[in-house]
Amino acid sequence: MVPTFSLSIALALFAGRSVSQSTIVPADHGAEVESHVQWISGADGFDGVKVHPINRTTYDWWYFDLVQELDAGVGNQASMSITIRNSGQNGALPNNFTTDNFINLDMTWPNGSAHSWVLMAKDAVITTPEGADGTSGVWLSSGVSFVGAPDLSRYEVYINAPEQGIVGSLFIESQAPAHYPCSPAGAGQDMRVAPGSGWINPIPDGHTEAQFHIFGEEFQIQGRGYHDHNFGDRPLMSTLETYYWGRGRVGPYSIVWIDILTPGGDNHLSAYVSRDGEILVASCEAGSIRARPYGANATYPPLFTSGAPTGFEVDFETPEGLLSLRTETVYLTYEGLPFRQWSGFLTGTLDGEEIPRGVAIWQQSAAAR
Ligand SMILES: *[C@@H]1O[C@H](CO)[C@@H](O)[C@H](O)[C@H]1NC(C)=O
Ligand SMILES: *[C@@H]1O[C@H](CO)[C@@H](O)[C@H](O)[C@H]1NC(C)=O
Ligand SMILES: *[C@@H]1O[C@H](CO)[C@@H](O)[C@H](O)[C@H]1NC(C)=O
Ligand SMILES: *[C@@H]1O[C@H](CO)[C@@H](O)[C@H](O)[C@H]1NC(C)=O
Repeated sequence: MVPTFSLSIALALFAGRSVSQSTIVPADHGAEVESHVQWISGADGFDGVKVHPINRTTYDWWYFDLVQELDAGVGNQASMSITIRNSGQNGALPNNFTTDNFINLDMTWPNGSAHSWVLMAKDAVITTPEGADGTSGVWLSSGVSFVGAPDLSRYEVYINAPEQGIVGSLFIESQAPAHYPCSPAGAGQDMRVAPGSGWINPIPDGHTEAQFHIFGEEFQIQGRGYHDHNFGDRPLMSTLETYYWGRGRVGPYSIVWIDILTPGGDNHLSAYVSRDGEILVASCEAGSIRARPYGANATYPPLFTSGAPTGFEVDFETPEGLLSLRTETVYLTYEGLPFRQWSGFLTGTLDGEEIPRGVAIWQQSAAAR
């Protein structure tokens, strides 16, 4: 792995492909503009820019996470989440930043100590080679960039922010095919997971390795990695009243779930299960999945005033029978209402047969009441 990354490497890489479309997202969207938002998928460009230009109420972001795959039990699990954003001040989340281009970075050491950063960027340069699905991006002056393989088989993320105490990189090698909220990858698919909110999943699950120097210490982990991409044509919080999201591995199965309530009270779902590179479930139909909290604080729907639940039970209807899963918390890795994020284990049964447990990351967003 390359511990540091320079713009020249990225440009050389982009230049190596004959025809590439680069989008420059300026740090400041300037006067009022209408964003153009792509909701229906094309034949290629899976992970490309979906919103352009950005305005005060729109957003487009590339999210990567990883969780350590070390069966060391409770009290020992590292994780990291990196969200590389283009967002107006009332797009993804309300903010007062002077730039539309920034990165949220959250990591947890194996012992549970956590750190968060927000890294500010100038312009962002985002490139999807002609005919490719993978995308690369450089968030100028932040030290953050990512490089996607044209066929989505691998992503690398680089962070070179020594003045913020973090330098290093990670890679994710896909082991689960890409999908949209209601379907496998393909042209003509709706990319909305709820009205006004796009969500696509280039890498539902893969082998990952990360190597960082953080405040002078080594952060080296191997485990399960994940990459998704969110975008919207209106403020995120106006489209979702509550949501549950999670992703993980259990036995040979790669799993992703979304269970949303809109402000109007509509329930939107997305369920994904794959095994050995084959998709078993990629559906948003009613009944395809059910995610609910269990144990202490198992309030549904979750409210601002609800405490953190013990965990979640998630059931999927699959062609092989009912996949019935339960999350077991190792760490509450992030808490900043309305959001909470956890890392831990996934256990469960398929058609009544127990499956070897795996690791997972999951979130909830609570209603503001
Ligand atoms: C941003 O663009 C969206 C989509 O075109 C539009 O609905 C919205 O009114 C625009 N917002 C602002 C603040 O201009
Ligand atoms: C932005 O700044 C204004 C004025 O200082 C403040 O009232 C508001 O709460 C801030 N918003 C956020 C999201 O920080
Ligand atoms: C947890 O581990 C980190 C990284 O080694 C270290 O800096 C921190 O002091 C540890 N925290 C505790 C409470 O031991
Ligand atoms: C339930 O919520 C309370 C209050 O926020 C909190 O102290 C407690 O730790 C939560 N229970 C669990 C299992 O997290």
